[in-house]
Amino acid sequence: MSYRSIAIDGPSGAGKSTLAKRLAQELGFLYVDTGAIYRTVGLAVRRRGVAPSDAAGVEAILPDLVITMAYEEDGLQHMYLGGEDVTEAIRENEISACASKAAALPVVRDFLMEMQRRAACEHDVIMDGRDIGTVVLPQADLKIFLTAAPEARAQRRYQELLGRGQQADFDQVLQEVIERDRRDMEREAAPLRQAADAVLADTTGLDLEGSFQLLLGLSRDRLGIKEGME
Ligand code: DC
Repeated sequence: MSYRSIAIDGPSGAGKSTLAKRLAQELGFLYVDTGAIYRTVGLAVRRRGVAPSDAAGVEAILPDLVITMAYEEDGLQHMYLGGEDVTEAIRENEISACASKAAALPVVRDFLMEMQRRAACEHDVIMDGRDIGTVVLPQADLKIFLTAAPEARAQRRYQELLGRGQQADFDQVLQEVIERDRRDMEREAAPLRQAADAVLADTTGLDLEGSFQLLLGLSRDRLGIKEGME
């Protein structure tokens, strides 16, 4: 049996995970958040006291890392590092930069490839990340490049941090968004870019509902799913 796949790539804060999660629920697909997998490596690297851009140092610890993901009753993807549930810990603000730096290393990308591809061999998936349409699932049935202006993305991230009770400064969040975009787009290994056959979806002027309807419409059209059939 062959499974269907939808790849959603784009910069941080474009709404990928919120939209992909809801879309997966609506269509009955599994949602795979690949950023969470890179974040788990970022957390491990930080805990071991290795600089995330030190290729040799990071490579040395990879064989010891046992990273697994599981879907709990809440339907959410939980990440485990050596058996410990790190789903919350990987969302800390300082882990974002660590994950982004470690993700620039080819050795880290190779290490995580199999885990991502396996999920798409075993389920209908909606997978989001930076290189899903270009590298991980080049044969995806639908590829969406989801983006929004940096200010709009920083505003969403800022609200998210406040909502989680974390301290945040908007200008600093904006600088971090711009810096992470630059690092994700300019790296040599699997840089963030729109696949030639991806549909561009810009959510700058759209609210969550408008963005969701846009993606749902694209998915139904491309996969031939009629309303009420999922
Ligand atoms: O989507 P996110 O912000 O949780 O991802 C964390 C970091 O991981 C991000 O800076 C880029 C990296 N990443 C990647 O390089 N490739 C992916 N497929 C997903 C995330």
